[in-house]
Amino acid sequence: ESFNAKGLHVLPGVIDPHVHFRDGGKGGIEGVEDMRSGSLGAVLGGVTAAFDMPNTNPAGVDVATLQAKHDYVAGHSWCDIGMFAGATMDNLDETGMLESLPGVCAMKVFAGSSTGNLLVSDDESIERLMRSGRRRVAFHSEDEERLQERKAAFEKGGPYSDHYVWRDVECAFKGTRRITAIAERTGRPAHILHVSTAEEFEFLKAHKDLVGCEVLVNHLLQCAPDVYERLGGYGVMNPPLRDKRHMDAAWAAVADGTVDNIGSDHAPHPRANKEKPWPAVAAGLTGVQTMLPLMLTKVNEGRLSLLRLVQLMSEGPARVYGAVGKGRLVAGNDADFSVVDLQAKRTIENNWIASQCGWTPFDGVACTGWPVGTIIRGNVVMYEGQVTGEPVGRSVRFRS
Ligand code: DOR
Ligand code: ZN
Ligand code: ZN
Repeated sequence: ESFNAKGLHVLPGVIDPHVHFRDGGKGGIEGVEDMRSGSLGAVLGGVTAAFDMPNTNPAGVDVATLQAKHDYVAGHSWCDIGMFAGATMDNLDETGMLESLPGVCAMKVFAGSSTGNLLVSDDESIERLMRSGRRRVAFHSEDEERLQERKAAFEKGGPYSDHYVWRDVECAFKGTRRITAIAERTGRPAHILHVSTAEEFEFLKAHKDLVGCEVLVNHLLQCAPDVYERLGGYGVMNPPLRDKRHMDAAWAAVADGTVDNIGSDHAPHPRANKEKPWPAVAAGLTGVQTMLPLMLTKVNEGRLSLLRLVQLMSEGPARVYGAVGKGRLVAGNDADFSVVDLQAKRTIENNWIASQCGWTPFDGVACTGWPVGTIIRGNVVMYEGQVTGEPVGRSVRFRS
């Protein structure tokens, strides 16, 4: 196929290494998301591959489910797919086997509970898991004890509110310190997902040899208290959006090399569940479709260079998880390209969002810099805002 890229920039295919497409290979959740709608949002947003989290139904925690999900990708996904294998109290000694299944990018551990019921929170179990297998292990590192303390305080009528939650830096920082200590004890590399506090960025800067660091577009672009005043429950996620001090620290960590990759943590929920009061409100925001135009806008504003964007959104995720053939424009790699127009101006709107939940926290945000084409292994799957042909997504291959 020919592609006229005159006046455009051709970037190595953007990877979103943190999505919740809600589909364990059996069809997702109606009105929320499945692999087809989630991946449609990806390619409309210029994203060529997405790595999907295991808190699906069925959960991606065993060989049978992960194999079925791997087989399901062909014919159901517009973009290429990597899968996280979820840790449970029952598979702690099998992570070496699970992480080497085809299409699996890493083990994912919820060390603090979030959407779904995956949880491995005690040091002993995490350490046991870290002694099986050798690949990098990805963590939602919020501290479960601290989360339970909050819950108990709320049930006693105590100070539970959005403000109480987003000010609780120690919940994330304590979890990240604990995971780092276990990584050091076991020599096993870890990756802290969605790092959200100045304290963690400073700490992780000193532990880069073994522990990697992901930051989310949401934590770079929105902060408390105004995000909650503007969006209410549509600003609620785990870990929470925090105040400007932390947002500034996230940008400093992007600039100084502490951050290895950017993700969206695309986590769709139905409107009804976002419009509940704390703490019943569902945590999670959509993001796979909007991450590239939002970050290109920051390039245009001079917040980061286009090269740094490529390092964080393509090369970084490929390197962190050992994706084969992705992340760099070199001979032999897959012909995955995100073709962008740095001058194009457009406003993000809910009605553009392919996610079945139909909303974005960035509704009404004007962006300068838009994806024009999404090319996956040489196939033009999106051009000028329209998908073309059939879903050609395949499972990504990872180095074992
Ligand atoms: O806000 C979140 N939503 N944080 C998570 O850890 C999970 C995610 C979801 O699956 O909804
Ligand atoms: Zn998480
Ligand atoms: Zn997540």
